[in-house]
Amino acid sequence: MMIDTHAHYDDEQFDTDREELLKRIHDSGIDLIVNASSTIESWEKIQKLTEEYPFVRGAVGVHPDEVGALTEEHMDRMKRLLELDKIVAVGEIGLDYYWDHESHGMQKKWFVRQLELARETEMPVIIHSRDAAEDTMEIMKKYASGMKAVIHCYSYSAELAKEYVKMGYYIGIGGVVTFKNAKKLKSVVREIPLTSIVLETDCPYLAPEPYRGKRNSSLYLPYIAEKIAELKEVSAEEVIRQTEENSRKLYGL
Ligand code: NI
Repeated sequence: MMIDTHAHYDDEQFDTDREELLKRIHDSGIDLIVNASSTIESWEKIQKLTEEYPFVRGAVGVHPDEVGALTEEHMDRMKRLLELDKIVAVGEIGLDYYWDHESHGMQKKWFVRQLELARETEMPVIIHSRDAAEDTMEIMKKYASGMKAVIHCYSYSAELAKEYVKMGYYIGIGGVVTFKNAKKLKSVVREIPLTSIVLETDCPYLAPEPYRGKRNSSLYLPYIAEKIAELKEVSAEEVIRQTEENSRKLYGL
């Protein structure tokens, strides 16, 4: 049984075949899917998905590219959604200095505010961080110590990953690990313990080889597990068993 710890089935790329695809995914041995949220508009769709599909859980939060639209009223709405049984995390939240859609000050303000809400509601957090290694670490140290978290789609050094592992956080590994040029991420997987890794697709984005560039889905999760197994010189079954246990601990599933 496998758990996809980060997917976006609310995305319009799934509008044509969502129902059929999700059924196929569940039949293929994917036990649970956690659907992360990026925008305020996605919350309602995600809540609906968790109601329609018994194997889908949701997270609510606002991606750093989208925080310009956030208000305290939205935080109240988030808080109410976090009381639902099938909403299991706050995310994805964080910093993105690659796209830089919002000022760094604005991104940091709402990152911290959403971490505070997660602490108040005792929820785990899903962290998105791109080209913002230093500021993310600083904020996590200051505002998220002792909390459960996953650094999703991890893209930094092995050294920094080890620091996050020491803080008790999980590292989300997805399709990028199968790419030929992903040397840095492969060394991350080799150097951190399997007990700190969770599997994710981030679908519809970042499909693993041999589907790179195509629409991604949880059907491709086994390719990620197999690559991790190869890098860690253990069986794919062991990767699947351990990452499932990690995912359940992370989200309290
Ligand atoms: Ni995502």
